[in-house]
Amino acid sequence: QVYNDYFFDEPAWNTHDGGYVPLEEPTTPQQKLHVPAVLQPDKETDTDMYYTVTAEEGETQLLPGPKTKTWGYNGSLLGKTIIFKRGKTIHITLKNDLHELTTFHWHGLNVPGPYIDGGCHAPVYPGESSDIKFVCNQPAATLWLHAHPCPSTAQQVWHGLATPVVVQDEVEAKLPLPRNYGVDDFPLVLQDRNFHEDNQWDYQKDYDPDGVQGKTPMINGTINPYIDVTTQRVRLRVLDGANRREFRLHFSDGLEFAQVASDGGIMPEPVYFTKVMMTCAERDEFIVDFGKYQDGDEVALMSDDVPLVHFRIHEFAKDDTKLPDHLVDVPDLPVTAGTKTRHVVMSGMDEEVAIDGKKFEMQRIDARQKVGDVVLWDITNTNDMVGGMIHPFHIHGTQFLVVSRNGHAPYPNEHGWKDTVSVNPNEHVQIKVRFEYTGVYMYHCHIIEHEDGGMMAQIESYDPQHPKTYKLMDMDTL
Ligand code: C2O
Ligand code: CU
Ligand code: CU
Repeated sequence: QVYNDYFFDEPAWNTHDGGYVPLEEPTTPQQKLHVPAVLQPDKETDTDMYYTVTAEEGETQLLPGPKTKTWGYNGSLLGKTIIFKRGKTIHITLKNDLHELTTFHWHGLNVPGPYIDGGCHAPVYPGESSDIKFVCNQPAATLWLHAHPCPSTAQQVWHGLATPVVVQDEVEAKLPLPRNYGVDDFPLVLQDRNFHEDNQWDYQKDYDPDGVQGKTPMINGTINPYIDVTTQRVRLRVLDGANRREFRLHFSDGLEFAQVASDGGIMPEPVYFTKVMMTCAERDEFIVDFGKYQDGDEVALMSDDVPLVHFRIHEFAKDDTKLPDHLVDVPDLPVTAGTKTRHVVMSGMDEEVAIDGKKFEMQRIDARQKVGDVVLWDITNTNDMVGGMIHPFHIHGTQFLVVSRNGHAPYPNEHGWKDTVSVNPNEHVQIKVRFEYTGVYMYHCHIIEHEDGGMMAQIESYDPQHPKTYKLMDMDTL
């Protein structure tokens, strides 16, 4: 079966937002897609990996003419791809070479909160560094690192503080999937920016409380990119890394492709699409088979009617590897007896956004859940303002399972691990949530301006045997 549907409610797409900024095809020449280098460990042993991740300011040649002032991790824009091997103990020195406070949030990583997780309670001050250590113990997946200092997450991500993180394991390694990084396996960080005078970005000028948008697509920090296709099958690890924008992906000629992974890793089965919509912070891995094309052909990955990436087909060896019908086992989590369904309500637009009628407060813990328990969460989007909009709901420090949408089956690509699920207006989405570690974790809308605007709350995962107290940041001390 091949799905030809974006699934999300069309009247709620961002195209219907009064402040919507449509993408425009760049007029500058095509450039080879920038493939971020892999961050080399400072040291690696059989059991441990050591990394240094530095947030820094720099300049990047994005357009002809003046360079753009940008921020990145171990580079001038976005960053290097960070690879963790499952089972290893990871040590990371987090260095802040910026002129302001930042935090290093590992979006999608199952780690203790709130300091290792790197939300707003884990500041690294300018010129300083801090060390974290955790065991990587989760399935192979495409995750990401981004800044998370509240309430300037949106601005720091807009400047460029976001980079792919890849978890590898032995289960994924045995599947017949392309995994030759930069050759047939590419991260694609989808973003959008506006260029002002002298090719500079201007966050304040473009500010919109419902999320900042730009008319120019930027993929891995490349404007108008192309990929040289030299193998029949190509794997795309796509991240919607935009502050606000939804991407409605399809190929220029309707080429069908397979989705094999969602946020938290490989899905139980491949799902075939001609169209997929991605909302902020989601990751999808696609396998694209270019078998029907010939040397010299070109096809583009589009969002709506604008090309994001051009694929230039070259000669390749025939590769008729078929994806198995079954990829991995994703266990169903039985809800822990005696737990009550947790209701979470997302409401509002603009400055009115809230969770459960409240704005985020650093020092307020909104909910508690026993570590290891599996609890049903019911997330509602009230649609209480004109038209309403889709809110991507994200929880830190865990991967969850989507149970239902308004009592119906989730979308076909929501049967694997997820850390972000978008909720349509007037919809309630049920998910099963388990925290493997203790800590304080944020949960929020991942339209980053909504998150900064207070559409965020926090939950403590606690162990009754070992009560803990946490030093929580104070908004006023920022
Ligand atoms: Cu992508 Cu609070 O996170
Ligand atoms: Cu997160
Ligand atoms: Cu929102």
